Order: sequence, then C-alpha cells, then structure tokens
Amino acid sequence: VAIVSNPIVAPLYADALEATLEQAGYRPFVCQIPAGEENKTLDTVSTLYGQFLDGNLDRSGTVLSLGGGVTGDLSGFAAASFMRGVAFIQVPTTLLAMVDASIGGKTGVDLPQGKNLVGAFKQPSLVLIDPDVLKTSPEVEMRSGLAEVIKHGLIADQVLFGTLETMERELSYWWGDHAVAQIVRALRVKQSIVEEDPFERGRRAVLNLGHTIGHALEKVSDYSLRHGEAVSIGMVGAADIAQTLGGCDSNLGMRIRNILSRWGLPIDSPPYPVESLLQAMSRDKKRQGRGLRWILPRDIGQVEIVEDVPIDVVKTTLCNLGARSD
Ligand SMILES: NC(=O)c1ccc[n+]([C@@H]2O[C@H](COP(=O)([O-])OP(=O)(O)OC[C@H]3O[C@@H](n4cnc5c(N)ncnc54)[C@H](O)[C@@H]3O)[C@@H](O)[C@H]2O)c1
Ligand SMILES: [Zn+2]
Repeated sequence: VAIVSNPIVAPLYADALEATLEQAGYRPFVCQIPAGEENKTLDTVSTLYGQFLDGNLDRSGTVLSLGGGVTGDLSGFAAASFMRGVAFIQVPTTLLAMVDASIGGKTGVDLPQGKNLVGAFKQPSLVLIDPDVLKTSPEVEMRSGLAEVIKHGLIADQVLFGTLETMERELSYWWGDHAVAQIVRALRVKQSIVEEDPFERGRRAVLNLGHTIGHALEKVSDYSLRHGEAVSIGMVGAADIAQTLGGCDSNLGMRIRNILSRWGLPIDSPPYPVESLLQAMSRDKKRQGRGLRWILPRDIGQVEIVEDVPIDVVKTTLCNLGARSD
C-alpha cells in the first residue's frame, strides 16, 4: 500500500495509519508530495511513479491518499495511470475533501493554463472518514469546507441546511462524533448525484452551484480568495440572479446570506472590476464554444440549470455583490 501524503499531514497521521496497516498484514510505505495547489502538477505525479517503483508497488498494490483534495486529486490520478491502473483508497483529512473531493471519482492535475485540465475518472474502492483529524485542520480550511456543506444542503437536503441554520456555531462541533451525521448527509448529496450521472453529462452540473461566479472570483483574486470563500459569494450571486429572473423569492436569498455569514463565510465580493469577472467566466476552458451555464436555487434543497441568463442581469448581480462597474 503506497500511502501518499504531504509534509503537513504525514507527521500527524501517517505513522498511525502505517502501523494499523502493518498489523492487518499489509506492507505499507509512505510517499511524500509537496503541499499546496501549486504542486498539483504532472511533475509531482511523475515523482510519485518513481516512489511507487522504489516501494515495489505492483499491479496488485493499492494507492492510499492521506490528505486534502490536492493529495486526493494527485494520488488518484497516479493510481489511475500507474501500470494502467491500481486500486485506490481515499482517507480525506479536510472537511472539503470529506464531503466533496474524495467522492465522485474525479482525479487530476493542473496545467499552467488552468486548473484540473488533465485527469481521469478513478472511483476509490473505499473512502474512510475519521472526523477526529479535523482537530488539526486550520480554521480557514474548515470554513472553506463548510461552504460546500452548505452548498450540498442548498442543492438537495433541506434538513441539512436547516441544521446548519440552527445548530451551535462552534467549529469544534465538526470534529466530534455528533458531526458524523452531518458529514454523512453532506457527502450523500454528492454521492447520489454522481451515481445518477457519473460522467457529468447532465445532472451532475448542479454540484457547480456558486462556482460560475466563484471560479471567476478565485481567478481575479489571483487565488487569494479560498475556493470555499469564492463559492460562498458565488452562491449569494446565484440566488440574486434567481430572484431577478423570478425563480425564487427574496426570503431565500436572505436565508442563504444568513447561513453563510453565520459560519464566517463572505457574502460580498471585493471591489474587482465587473469586466474582469465577466472575462474570467467566459474564459473558463471547460466551457469553450458554449454559453455560460448557471445553477440557480429555487428553494432550499432544489436547484435548476439555466443556460440563457441575460448579460445585464449578470452584471447587475456582480455589482450587487460589490464588484466595480467603471
Ligand atoms: N476531485 C474532486 O471532485 C474535487 C472536488 C472539489 C475540490 N477538489 C480539489 O481539491 C483541492 C482542494 O482541497 P482542500 O481544500 O482539501 O485543500 P488541500 O488539500 O490543499 O488542504 C488544505 C491544507 O490543509 C492541510 N491539511 C489537510 N488536512 C489537514 C489536517 N487534518 N490537519 C492539518 N492540516 C491539514 C493540507 O496539507 C493543506 O496545506 C483543489 O485542488 C480542488 O481542485 C477536487
Ligand atoms: Zn467547489
């Protein structure tokens, strides 16, 4: 078993995992990758192949990701391609990876031209979640993950959304045993949507709620906005567009803003130029040649896919969020 981890997570949890696997009769070894999105590259995957060979991993072996979404995406792609594919296990250690990145089988790396441009579908044989590890997760990472938990409630689980509106607001809640129920609810939303549409031909797109504006904000901020923060602002924007188009009432927008600020997530955009944001949206490589696709909330637990949002409506929403129109 090749345990893939980085210099932040490995010192915390790799020894315990290695010992457990050894006790169970496996032959584990730890492979190191550097931390950070900037290292989610083919070069890093290449160093993993070398480490797999050094550890004598063969086609009967297993790659195990111990880390956040970056580690999962990298090691999943390495597992999909090494010797034409070996078994893969995810042990996600961030909230985002637990409820989102470790589920659904998308793996891959970034290119200098953009994020996630190379990859493979590789379903893990097992996703093993221990919320205890969130104790060491930095606060900003916890909040980033919470944006996706809230997103999953808004897409398809009104009970989850309602719980997050009323439960105690302590981040420490998320590493107790009682958090298991909420984490499982959140990941089930993604799991059921992905099972319905594993290769993203249709419904799976709803998981991109908040991401149309969110990705643009990430880019224009030069990635100083965390993914979850950008998605948080993006969800407020989606609700604003839905309201303008008559798809939902103002109370829904209010509830979305309230729940996001309750968990310390931003609901306003920094004053970036509207034109830069629009440009970033239309340059989204995956959408080349087609119009923008919007995921808009109708109600808590219900969203729709809309292709033809007028550009003026988008501009007004970006201004409402705090972007500059000059
Ligand atoms: N494959 C998918 O479907 C999918 C979905 C969403 C996001 N992603 C990808 O996931 C990545 C983001 O993942 P992320 O938010 O988990 O970031 P990350 O993997 O970079 O982890 C964030 C930071 O927290 C550290 N860390 C992780 N677990 C820790 C712990 N328990 N204690 C202390 N520190 C810990 C990491 O070393 C890292 O420095 C992006 O590359 C994104 O593209 C993939
Ligand atoms: Zn996301």
